[in-house]
Amino acid sequence: MEQFEKNFDAAKETQNVIEWIRDFFHENGKGCNAVVAISGGKDSSVVAALCVEALGKERVHGVLLPNGEQADIYASELLVKHLGIGYSVINIKGAVDALLEGIKSQLPCGIQTQTITNLPARIRMAAAYAVAQSMNGRVANTSNLSEDWVGYATRYGDAAGDFSPLSKFTVGEVKMIGSHLGLPDKLVNKVPIDGLTPYTDEENLGFTYATLDRYIRTGICDDPETKENIDRKHEANLFKLSMMPMYEYKGDVKAAGGVLKERLEMSKTIIIYYSRRGENYAAGEIVNLEKGNTEFVVDYLKDATGADVFHVDTVKDYCMEYTDCIKESKEEFMNDERPELKEYLESIDGYDNIILAAPNWWGTYPMPMFTQLEKLDFSGKKVYPVITHEGSGLANTLDWLKKTCENADIREGLAIHGAEASESKEIVEGWVETCLEK
Ligand SMILES: Cc1cc2nc3c(=O)[nH]c(=O)nc-3n(C[C@H](O)[C@H](O)[C@H](O)COP(=O)(O)O)c2cc1C
Repeated sequence: MEQFEKNFDAAKETQNVIEWIRDFFHENGKGCNAVVAISGGKDSSVVAALCVEALGKERVHGVLLPNGEQADIYASELLVKHLGIGYSVINIKGAVDALLEGIKSQLPCGIQTQTITNLPARIRMAAAYAVAQSMNGRVANTSNLSEDWVGYATRYGDAAGDFSPLSKFTVGEVKMIGSHLGLPDKLVNKVPIDGLTPYTDEENLGFTYATLDRYIRTGICDDPETKENIDRKHEANLFKLSMMPMYEYKGDVKAAGGVLKERLEMSKTIIIYYSRRGENYAAGEIVNLEKGNTEFVVDYLKDATGADVFHVDTVKDYCMEYTDCIKESKEEFMNDERPELKEYLESIDGYDNIILAAPNWWGTYPMPMFTQLEKLDFSGKKVYPVITHEGSGLANTLDWLKKTCENADIREGLAIHGAEASESKEIVEGWVETCLEK
């Protein structure tokens, strides 16, 4: 067992999730039942068992959803009997076949294999919601972090649900919770198979969950090709986990309301940042920064604001050695150069608040920040300078911004000493709370 797994406290986390489920039902459906689509795999088994612990078995209903013959239906039956919960068996084959037939006959381009693969998951979701609606239920989502990380779930299919107890746990952690709950080993350690293809999950993905879990928790992946594969899948599937984007019309909202009203009224914020990893000067000595000081601040800003983020990155890297970087950046500064960027942000239309975060180089932002800023129209935007520095604070940054961001409303900025950046979470949160316009 690896150290990160040894550090996982299954007993404590199990108790925490049980309480979380209780709280969810208290706030979102007092007296409602948990409806869990049961596949017989570890995730639905663990979710159902957690719901039983949280709500009692009378308030948990399993829905078995075979698509015709399901070879491993015994596992689902074993689970519902083990937990002693009520259940329904709804065969989705008729619905899947009828829908496929209807779609095929209307699609001149033919139906894609991927569509055929994912349709059963979406029909299962429709069936689970139908059951929940008819029996005062809330649908449990059974995704885990590892699957979500690489997008191994069907959007509006098994990725749907009203509450998600396991989304922040890796496959290995889910198994530890399952064992802690005393579930039969056959269920906890059943080879994960999505039932949509003839292959196991790991065969479909091209790497093992053990490799993926280790990479998620430690950042270490020994095989560069696998790492690239995971990163690519992660990037491509992120959209599945975000809220549906809404067009930013800013009409008045006067009616009383909760979350939706808040979301409609919220100012839209973007953080545009530059940061350099490598040797730097901190508290009297040269240190090697694996993560730039400004990067820490940007992470805290993002958490505190939910803002979008744009990374200013140069085509030509600056020297990793501090003294060389000092020389080349000084020359660039003296010549007022605009180094080329790998990618440009085309527009900030649709954003109200623009946070500009970067280190102090020669009394202002590094020149690549200005390469980017000069391409944008700042009229009417609220601009918030954030800088990390080694003693000079914001220095001349405001003067530079006044010249660059024409017609912008430049607001109170934040200066953080570079050496304190990694510990600046509270300072950043305080600044967001008091200075950033909501
Ligand atoms: C090329 C260069 C020039 C710098 N110039 C200044 C400066 O004029 N004033 C200052 O306070 N700090 C200066 N510093 C220190 C950085 O502003 C500080 O270390 C910052 O936190 C680095 O952020 P980063 O890791 O996100 O790049 C400079 C650092 C470098 C590498």
